[in-house]
Amino acid sequence: MKKMKFALTVIVLVFLVLQYSFIAQAQNISKNQTNKNTKKENNMKTTDKFEFQALPYAYDALEPFIDKLTLEIHYGKHHKAYYENFLAAIKGTEMESMDIMYIFRNISKYPVAVRNNGGGYYNHTFYWEGMKASGGDLPTGKLSDAITKSFTSFDEFKKQFSDAGKTRFGSGWAWLSLDDKGKLFISSTPNQDNPLMDLTEKKGTPLLVMDVWEHAYYLKYQNKRPDYIEAFWNVVNWEEVAQRYEKALSQVSK
Ligand SMILES: [Fe+2]
Repeated sequence: MKKMKFALTVIVLVFLVLQYSFIAQAQNISKNQTNKNTKKENNMKTTDKFEFQALPYAYDALEPFIDKLTLEIHYGKHHKAYYENFLAAIKGTEMESMDIMYIFRNISKYPVAVRNNGGGYYNHTFYWEGMKASGGDLPTGKLSDAITKSFTSFDEFKKQFSDAGKTRFGSGWAWLSLDDKGKLFISSTPNQDNPLMDLTEKKGTPLLVMDVWEHAYYLKYQNKRPDYIEAFWNVVNWEEVAQRYEKALSQVSK
């Protein structure tokens, strides 16, 4: 009888220990999951708002006009560095919760690191999305009419835009934008400035951009920037530019 009681006590004790161990393990898993989720939410605060968007095509998609290695380095190193430095420049400031358009409209109030890296982050995303494999068709519809009206012909527009890129001293960008009266204009900005910034001479809503920093073309074209500019016309995503134009125009007429 005593032996039976002893055996029963041992069984009950083993059962209790196992149950405690199972509950503790379950609580631990739940705690870890909560920590993971909290960490994820904290990370999302900055990176979700200012996302480093995936390249909209493969690295070799714009060959032979823009080569694979240039695109790999340009997107994966240069653009990524602007993005990371922009996040570092706004960390712990009011800008973390601001829209990037608002930051650009007030860029003169903020540190130069925000201007350079915020511009570098935004301008490159805009540049990638304005190109595509087998692009380069002529613009159509309302955009085509507006280009002809503003520049007399598509060829004249192309010449003026190309010249804006060719004559940009040092590093910068060539832009086609819409001003606040609904008129198209071509401009060029130095460094990582863009037409959305309050300190830019010609302000407007960007529609098309061409990067004329040496890192955009040097591996394939070396010092021949005009050759890169000529090649650029083969990869312009005119559907995207037309959508940007119609959206910008609808904002002007509001
Ligand atoms: Fe660039």
